[in-house]
Amino acid sequence: MPKILVSGGAGYIGSHTVVELLNVGHEVIIVDNLINSSREAVHRIQQITGKQVALHVFDLQDTHKLDSLFEQNTDIEAVVHFAGLKAVGESVKKPLLYYRTNIDATLSLLEVMEKHEVHKLVFSSSATVYGSAPIPYSESSPAGQGITSPYGQTKYFIEQIVTDAANANPDNQFSILRYFNPIGAHESGLIGEDPLGIPNNLMPFVAQVASGRREKLSIFGNDYQTPDGTCVRDYIHVVDLAKGHVAALEHLQTGTNTFNLGSGKGTSVLELVNAFTDTTGQEVVYEFADRRDGDLPAFYANPRKAADELGWKTEKTIHDMCRDTWNWQSKNPNGYTDNKEI
Ligand code: NAD
Ligand code: WQD
Repeated sequence: MPKILVSGGAGYIGSHTVVELLNVGHEVIIVDNLINSSREAVHRIQQITGKQVALHVFDLQDTHKLDSLFEQNTDIEAVVHFAGLKAVGESVKKPLLYYRTNIDATLSLLEVMEKHEVHKLVFSSSATVYGSAPIPYSESSPAGQGITSPYGQTKYFIEQIVTDAANANPDNQFSILRYFNPIGAHESGLIGEDPLGIPNNLMPFVAQVASGRREKLSIFGNDYQTPDGTCVRDYIHVVDLAKGHVAALEHLQTGTNTFNLGSGKGTSVLELVNAFTDTTGQEVVYEFADRRDGDLPAFYANPRKAADELGWKTEKTIHDMCRDTWNWQSKNPNGYTDNKEI
């Protein structure tokens, strides 16, 4: 089976995707600078799959190191590119860091791929590129208008770069995947989301409140024009999302092809909190707080194109997402840090 290079493969979505790639028989090598992840995640991947993965720890912006890696691995067939910074709030405070890191890392990767004639790429984009487009978002919806953060802009700009690079060589087969809201963890409880510091995203915060690590959840806004006043999102189990990458790799076509990876269903913040308690029996103390800057009231995917062209759709429910998050959280209350020796 072909060898796949996974950039950012020690991270949350990357680690789950590496498991699924190994499960279908691919050989995988990872490049990750571990700025937001841990070696332990790679040990756990090996524990889950019983297979070896080579981890190369360096920054993707280091084009020389990347070039050497491709020279040593002439059988790399495709790249799945997750590496980048992703904290929306931090990107507002440090926009140059986000533009530099996310765009430079991608340029470095595309240049080295071109030099070594590696023509297959799957890129992690985000539903955030739809900005103020009407919902549900389809791939044909206008993108690039009303994006509320520098992070989101990097995704939009990189989409343009990837598209232009694809068009410059008829051998190139690139795919852009726009994720909705990934949550959950591998059912083994061995890998999951391990945010540094105070979580920015809803589900890790909920899990840390349930485990007693945080006192209470602030629900940002309960006066939106939604059924219960709280924001609505399209949550997707990270294992479904990981399988979407396997499907995308199997269906690459000349040029660039863009897909939404979402369920098509909207769930409100309150519904998610209640589902978490119903599923796990854990109380989640919360209070209503002011709206958070930049939040849109509601968005969810039209997932039709991925179903029709990739033969992929989500299979797991909100209940599965809550169960697997809690399984991961309760087995690893402080993330990967507790279990370095495994
Ligand atoms: P993550 O932070 O867990 O994973 C990203 C990985 O990339 C980390 O392991 C980090 O150490 C590594 N990395 C960062 N910069 C690097 C660099 N310059 N060189 C080498 N490695 C580097 O994040 P994630 O949630 O797994 O997200 C993966 C990708 O999916 C990101 O590109 C993110 O923007 C995108 N995405 C995430 C979400 C989400 O909600 N998690 C939604 C849409 C899109
Ligand atoms: C979900 C809902 C919050 C935390 C972000 C990025 C997006 C994509 C996915 C990368 C919102 C509410 C949250 C809390 C809360 N990432 N919330 N209390 O903002 O939809 O999407 O992650 O591409 O680009 O913006 O996800 O999990 O932060 O928030 O009430 O402590 O939960 O207001 O309505 P979001 P989220």
